[in-house]
Amino acid sequence: MTETATVPTVPPRARAEIDLGALRANVRTLRARVGDAAVMAVVKADGYGHGAVPCARAAVEAGATWIGTALPEEALALRAAGLTQRVLCWLWVPGGPWRQAIEADIDMSLSGMWALREVTEAARAARRTARVQLKADTGLGRNGCQPGADWAELVAAALRAEAEGLVRVTGLWSHFACADEPGHPSIDAQLTRFREMVAYAEEQGVRPEVRHIANSPATLTLPETYFDLVRPGIAMYGLSPSPEVGTPADFGLRPVMTLSASLALVKRVPGGHGVSYGHHYVTPGDTTLGLVPLGYGDGVPRHASGAGPVLVDGKWRTAAGRVAMDQFVVDLGGDEPPVGSEAVLFGPGDRGEPTAEDWATACGTIVYEIVTRIGTRVPRVYVDDVNEDVRG
Ligand SMILES: Cc1ncc(COP(=O)(O)O)c(C=O)c1O
Repeated sequence: MTETATVPTVPPRARAEIDLGALRANVRTLRARVGDAAVMAVVKADGYGHGAVPCARAAVEAGATWIGTALPEEALALRAAGLTQRVLCWLWVPGGPWRQAIEADIDMSLSGMWALREVTEAARAARRTARVQLKADTGLGRNGCQPGADWAELVAAALRAEAEGLVRVTGLWSHFACADEPGHPSIDAQLTRFREMVAYAEEQGVRPEVRHIANSPATLTLPETYFDLVRPGIAMYGLSPSPEVGTPADFGLRPVMTLSASLALVKRVPGGHGVSYGHHYVTPGDTTLGLVPLGYGDGVPRHASGAGPVLVDGKWRTAAGRVAMDQFVVDLGGDEPPVGSEAVLFGPGDRGEPTAEDWATACGTIVYEIVTRIGTRVPRVYVDDVNEDVRG
């Protein structure tokens, strides 16, 4: 007898539900906020863990006209999936792949002379004009060209390459260091430096299609940073960049991801029973334990040990003891929900469940890390919330 293993399309263990209706509504909310500025949907790191391609498609349906990625392979994957919108890709190392990106009509960010040299060589070989955007380091101290002599050299060389037909400078842009800290003095300093660097490039003859610097916190709180385009990432996924900036609801945003699992075991244990590796939790008395089949192998931070909140059967429970690779335990305090009951780690909060922000607080991190690290072992289930039109 031959046995054929059937793998269910969505295994019942755990799921990350992705509400594309909420994502579209968030993009429309952001568009309404920025007026004439274009919206670039940032989908790096697999759409902050939400799935780059479905999220990029939904964002485009809601009016985003650009898509942003960090890595060239992320940009090429969008093209392979049939997305034809403008795509800006900003994290390059020697070797590119520049030619593939040129042939895929990707806009490439350049932060220095080495990158301009490589892209012009690739453009020559491909007999195509490469679309490039010059990135200014206005104070972040990370990627980007330094102001002064370095910027002058890059601008001059880009203009020479443009005159030869090898490149077209489509954008001048930068990135904030502290836009999520309202009132931080670096914000104005970066904005002033950006205006100066753009003005210099334009005086020299650069004619960019777009000038841009605003990430989510700037999009939500600093209208003077909009220029021609804004680049929201986290806000599009319905999350606030930081509690100081506000809650998602303050900005009309709705969290897109709900992470849940089915309890793998519910059992009675006596008081004084150690729980999980290291016995960092010991039951205070007779109780029931629920086994949540998600662990750090799925992206649930080990820092959530003893702290991560979970909604089970209408009540918040806390990860009891260590989060292991595949599972963690919650103390159900004597309740006995049936095995298979839903355990919701985070979601929009409507059903009383914790939010990604609650997890970020419990783990001493930011919401970006909570959603982005949810791994490939957790299936993404795409749904469209019926309330989209009401919110949109
Ligand atoms: C260059 C760049 N632009 C925009 C974003 C989007 O940032 P946020 O998710 O805060 O909107 C990022 C993400 O870090 C980025 O690296």
